[in-house]
Amino acid sequence: MPASSLDSIVSLCKRRGIVFPSSAVYGGLGSTWDYGPLGVELKNNVKRAWWRSVVHERDDMEGLDAAILMNRLVWKYSGHEATFSDPMTDCRACKARPRADHVFVAQKGRDPKGLPEINAAIVAKELKCPKCGSTDLTEARPFNLMFKTTVGAVDTGDDSGLAYLRPETAQGMFVNFGNVLDTMRRKLPFGIAQIGKAFRNEITPGNFTFRTREFEQMEIEYFVRPGEDEAAHQAWIDARTQWYLDMGLRKENLRQREQEGHELAHYAKRCVDLEYKFPMGWSELEGIANRTDYDLLAHSRGPNNPDSVAELKYFDQEQKKHIVPYVIEPSAGADRATLAFLCDAYEDSLVKEPPAEETDKLRDLVQSFAKSVEKRDNLDAGVKARLLESAATIAAGLPGTLPQLLGLSDDTDANRIEVFKKVRGVSDKLGEEFTRTVLRLHPRLSPISVAVFPLKKNEPRLVEMARAIKKNLQSEGIRTVYDDTGAIGKLYRRQDEIGTPFCLTVDFQSLEDGTVTVRDRDSMTQQRASRQELPTVVKPKA
Ligand code: GAP
Repeated sequence: MPASSLDSIVSLCKRRGIVFPSSAVYGGLGSTWDYGPLGVELKNNVKRAWWRSVVHERDDMEGLDAAILMNRLVWKYSGHEATFSDPMTDCRACKARPRADHVFVAQKGRDPKGLPEINAAIVAKELKCPKCGSTDLTEARPFNLMFKTTVGAVDTGDDSGLAYLRPETAQGMFVNFGNVLDTMRRKLPFGIAQIGKAFRNEITPGNFTFRTREFEQMEIEYFVRPGEDEAAHQAWIDARTQWYLDMGLRKENLRQREQEGHELAHYAKRCVDLEYKFPMGWSELEGIANRTDYDLLAHSRGPNNPDSVAELKYFDQEQKKHIVPYVIEPSAGADRATLAFLCDAYEDSLVKEPPAEETDKLRDLVQSFAKSVEKRDNLDAGVKARLLESAATIAAGLPGTLPQLLGLSDDTDANRIEVFKKVRGVSDKLGEEFTRTVLRLHPRLSPISVAVFPLKKNEPRLVEMARAIKKNLQSEGIRTVYDDTGAIGKLYRRQDEIGTPFCLTVDFQSLEDGTVTVRDRDSMTQQRASRQELPTVVKPKA
């Protein structure tokens, strides 16, 4: 069963050192996350796979690593200072702070024409607080999403040292267009790729690492002749879709969504979002926009920009004149992509059937849990319906639905019901013995490629050989770990849970003929291979 809720993913990530809540020793900081020892490997692999596909495997791309802090004028002429904001209103009755444009669309059924129209509706008491229904709302004010900081030793109190933490990596590539063009002697079409941190003071962060205030982007700015932009745009939409599929996302969980006219950013001629079916629903993974010549013009010296010293143009040999290239921008989030790969790879399954009497006992407990939910008057109606539906499905399908029940163990609402503790007591025990959680990650993305175990940890010859195999594979550039901290079955389970494609066991036969057992994560089949052929057998396939 794939991940049915983000809770299962959050729980796995915390349990297995993939992602931790940030600054937890001080109570955390809302919606900020730290990638742990396995998470950093996973995310690095995602970024590496992206870079390989969009830079190394192409002839028309260059890489860049621009600074996070940039001259404030970059953000003036990019339009971010004036427009990168959300209009917020405060409810005087319940102190909620909803986005005023969202309230307008939800209650009026159409987009507002701008802030004045939203405020006119607020003054006329036509809009209600979505939380408590009050019409006592404050005038909507734009809330800029850029984080401010001060550059220099002294905060002078004026704006002279003001800088921003970049809200996108894109501008670093636009202002370096001329540098890359000249130093790399490029001809159109060509592109620049960059991976780096971006910061947005999001009003409603959430859904784990899906929307955070600090995140990493993987962006491309691809420069083309005007007129060749539409074909290049379509080619990038196809290429980026294919990359997610090649990296293992299921076809049915990925879709392209054409942005409607009213959704398009002011600079975009067309934009297609690649969306993934996350447990909370279809949501944006990557946006691929045709930004026309907007950005290069905006940063070029001219009547609208007296501050720039550059003219970001291209001399077209064919036409014998200067032109301003159009830009195609595939812009992805490294954290969102990592989360999508985790959700897609996650699977809980029953590996063998528990005894019938254990199953009956568990079914009775699930039914008592359902009765207890039914009786609760203080439960939200939606939560009640969801828990009842889950309990009915699980009770009817046991033991096959045991993995689903284990998924429910991470559900905060289920855990508020007292009898659920008893359900967990039994299901956790059965889960341990009869189910397995596996991350079916693409081998190139798995945090660890190979785990090597000695059959017995107190047999020095086995330990020595297992350690030597680990060292040898590591020297071949294959991420390998050694582990002897449990029985082999338990060690297999641990590696399945973090998506390790191969486990190698060194046993007594290994000492005689130099072969080891190679166990495959997905099929759970085992075969013997000689030490010499191991690098070929376990190397992540292209
Ligand atoms: N330069 C264009 C740009 O920044 P965007 O749609 O705002 O476009 C691109 O962002 C991608 O960055 C998104 O598709 C998403 O994957 C990621 N992203 C944006 N905001 C994010 C946030 N608050 N948390 C995590 N990822 C985010």
